Amino acid sequence: MDFRAGSGVITVLDISRLEIAAGTCTGLSGPSGSGKTTLLNILTGILTPSAGRVAVGGVDLSSLTQSRKDRFRAEHIGYVFQSFNLIPPLTALDNVLLSMSFASRIPAQQQRSRARELLERVGLGHRLHHHPSQLSHGEQQRVGIARALANRPELIVADEPTASLEPGLTLEIGHLLAELCREEQATLVIASHDPELLRLMEKVEDMHTLNRACSVAAS
Ligand SMILES: Nc1ncnc2c1ncn2[C@@H]1O[C@H](COP(=O)(O)OP(=O)(O)OP(=O)(O)O)[C@@H](O)[C@H]1O
Ligand SMILES: [Mg+2]
Repeated sequence: MDFRAGSGVITVLDISRLEIAAGTCTGLSGPSGSGKTTLLNILTGILTPSAGRVAVGGVDLSSLTQSRKDRFRAEHIGYVFQSFNLIPPLTALDNVLLSMSFASRIPAQQQRSRARELLERVGLGHRLHHHPSQLSHGEQQRVGIARALANRPELIVADEPTASLEPGLTLEIGHLLAELCREEQATLVIASHDPELLRLMEKVEDMHTLNRACSVAAS
């Protein structure tokens, strides 16, 4: 992946091939700046790689127009963010329902019950009508996990999902995420610095090993 920066070009990722088996939990490890977030953004079609191609569940993202790619992402990919990214004026339930409204995978009459069930599954059955500001950080991330799973996506990516939480919550949230992905038969890819979280993954890809070359070419 090449980024234009000032008068130069930064090559951040140069990966010859990365295959992630469906239904597995994979960690991406590597120091700050090694390209973990960039790789997640490429896997999810948020960023288009400067060369090469990305296929998710057999769908070549580069073959899709922007609007089809956005739709594919809404329906088939869930994203868990470090800083939760919940919509402040919406309750926990409405945050989960909103992501269902962007996709058409869950029939309208089932959306409410699925949102409730997911929030109950993450331990928030008693917090359905609370707003993000009324929830602890751990609870907000549980809503983030329920939201990411809402549309039964085949792929869930999580970017430092425990980095904004108290250290004691890392294992709890990590286990929950991995367990739910197994239950829902989703493939999980987590980028993290945290060895405790990475240990929960079946496989860990190290960014330095993945990268054939990372260079900064000034022109
Ligand atoms: N839009 C952009 N334009 C220019 N450079 C960028 C852009 N996005 C990322 N980079 C550079 O790409 C490199 C990798 O960034 P990235 O955010 O993927 O790293 P990371 O491994 O996720 O780091 P962290 O652990 O701190 O989150 C960094 O050097 C960053 O400055
Ligand atoms: Mg990052």
